[in-house]
Amino acid sequence: MNVLGINGSPRIDGNTDIVLDNALEGAKTTGAKTDKIILNTLRFSPCQECEDMPDDGSCIVKDDMQPLYKKVDQADVVILASPIFFGSLSAQTKMMIDRFQCLWRAKYILKKDISRKKRKGIFISVEASTREDFFMNAKSIVKNLFATINAEYTGELLCSGLDEKGSILKHQDFLKKAFELGKKVGQV
Ligand SMILES: Cc1cc2nc3c(=O)[nH]c(=O)nc-3n(C[C@H](O)[C@H](O)[C@H](O)COP(=O)(O)O)c2cc1C
Repeated sequence: MNVLGINGSPRIDGNTDIVLDNALEGAKTTGAKTDKIILNTLRFSPCQECEDMPDDGSCIVKDDMQPLYKKVDQADVVILASPIFFGSLSAQTKMMIDRFQCLWRAKYILKKDISRKKRKGIFISVEASTREDFFMNAKSIVKNLFATINAEYTGELLCSGLDEKGSILKHQDFLKKAFELGKKVGQV
């Protein structure tokens, strides 16, 4: 069982990072192999809407997205974690999602299911406010990504009222829920 965690926050050891780590720790207790990607440390460009896209679902832009495509393809579970920025996903997260346009086109336009393996998808998000509509905005985009990569939207953890770096450490309830979520997906 390969569990891939993707962190879309620029803050290392920030709230998203900490809650994602707890989910990955939970998954590890079931014997799952875990990996974590911090999008902010990758060098990749936004989608360029290339006209000469190949029909095999691959992307011609050779940057740090290439190894990430491979990791997503090999994952049984993808845990995507993003803070809420201006009512939606962080730019880092959205930029990564747009780069899956190559797979979206292959699946929905060319009707080729390149990523045939079925996987599970978990969404984790944190915000300073308690605005449910912000999470809903983010979630609708994440659901679109998960459908594209054949990930069933299996669970979520939406944490409100967290602003300061590391303030989630004062909320053991969120950390416990993240751990349990990771444990649950690791078992299936
Ligand atoms: C650029 C930016 C935009 C933000 N926009 C929102 C927002 O629209 N709604 C909200 O509730 N919090 C917003 N926040 C607060 C973050 O969601 C919050 O601080 C979160 O805990 C950050 O998570 P992190 O520590 O993982 O980066 C914003 C923060 C930044 C830096």
